Amino acid sequence: MEEKLIIKGNNKLHGEVCISGAKNSAVGIIPAVILSDSGCIIKNLPDIEDVKYLKELLLQSGAKVEEGNPGEMKIVSKGMRNYKADFETAKKMRASYYFIGAFLSKFGRAEVPFPGGCDIGIRPIDQHIKGFEALGAKIKVEHGVIKARAAELVGAPIYLDVVSVGATINIILAACKAKGITIIENAAKEPYIVDIANLLNAMGANIKGAGTDVIKIKGVEHLGSCEHTIIPDMMEAGTYMIASAATHGDVLIKNVIPTHLESVSAKLREMNIEIDEYEDSIRVRGEARPKAVNIKTIPYPGFPTDLQQPMSVLLSIAEGTGIITESIWEGRFKHVDELKRMGANIKVEGRVAIIEGRHKLSGSPVHVTDLRAGAAMVIAGLAADGETEISNLKHIDRGYENLVGKLKKIGADISRVEK
Ligand code: EPU
Repeated sequence: MEEKLIIKGNNKLHGEVCISGAKNSAVGIIPAVILSDSGCIIKNLPDIEDVKYLKELLLQSGAKVEEGNPGEMKIVSKGMRNYKADFETAKKMRASYYFIGAFLSKFGRAEVPFPGGCDIGIRPIDQHIKGFEALGAKIKVEHGVIKARAAELVGAPIYLDVVSVGATINIILAACKAKGITIIENAAKEPYIVDIANLLNAMGANIKGAGTDVIKIKGVEHLGSCEHTIIPDMMEAGTYMIASAATHGDVLIKNVIPTHLESVSAKLREMNIEIDEYEDSIRVRGEARPKAVNIKTIPYPGFPTDLQQPMSVLLSIAEGTGIITESIWEGRFKHVDELKRMGANIKVEGRVAIIEGRHKLSGSPVHVTDLRAGAAMVIAGLAADGETEISNLKHIDRGYENLVGKLKKIGADISRVEK
């Protein structure tokens, strides 16, 4: 029987919510530990399906994994022998592509199926491949599997034609133990990249410039062990910020790095939402009806594509007309048809959505089309009149830890049921 979320809307969220470790860091950090000659202890891992799939991939590849306190995992990568990632597990998510960079670095060989993940547009990996080839790898694709091989990886200058989080991380992984110096130009600047570089440097790598658009990696022969705590998830935090605003709530979002959320705080302030930033928390109060604004998604530190869908909900109940321009993923408006079921007034033309605010949305059965669409449906349900029934929860489970429990704690009427 399928599980569904049932939300009875129109409750103001209030209280405190604690943010988990960042999914998009975790999914790079787990494969990065493969590079260690011994192993590492990782803390603040989110309890989400993507992390479970990565653990399975590690075990299938011969690593040993011990789980300690909640969010803690000891990964022993010493003795790993298998450079082939399991087809069924790898295709369940996007981040399995980091096993190409990690296996290439460790074994000089990698066989990894084409990755899966959210259906939000064409998701090429040409920049990853360009990077591996520049380092001396030969790449071929056979029967849906990417096969990479290198007798020796040698550092090289690599210019990314598009700013790509995944390609930046994957090239860092492959270059850490390459001979000589690799320089990645036009690198992505997301905090996840800094987090992964910090882990690798703690293991003994020599990476400079992570967080800027030029990253310099001087290859080292060995990487050792370390203990690393993953940064807070800025997309989970942003989701609760928008949920508080959409329900006229008053929520203190704890365990965050406020500077990571500056573009989101700035936009919410523009919409007349009150934001108070503290050292490691943000209070979001949405007393007044939000005012419509225009949003364009751009790579960090611009407004994140991953919060565009939740923001479309806030614009659907804002005063006035707002325009969203999605510049990263051309297929990230699939949730709009579901929002329309709830009464939203949205027109999509290509990469642009024009949203005319309504006073209220009304609860309805809706279907989740991808991870952040799931977050958007939940926020819509919380803000709407009546009952919303949300199906296809597998997407939400890939990226949000204990969503129901956390929302209940701040006053939401939400339950997960079998139907
Ligand atoms: N691109 C290319 N060629 C490549 C790689 C990317 O053309 O080789 C293009 C993409 O088509 C896209 C743009 O470059 O238009 C940016 O893609 P990027 O590589 O940065 O995305 P990603 O690494 O596959 C990560 C997150 C996404 C997030 C994007 C953008 C992970 C596992 N995923 O994806 O997160 O939307 O960066 O910030 O880290 C999510 O969490 O909901 C999610 C989808």
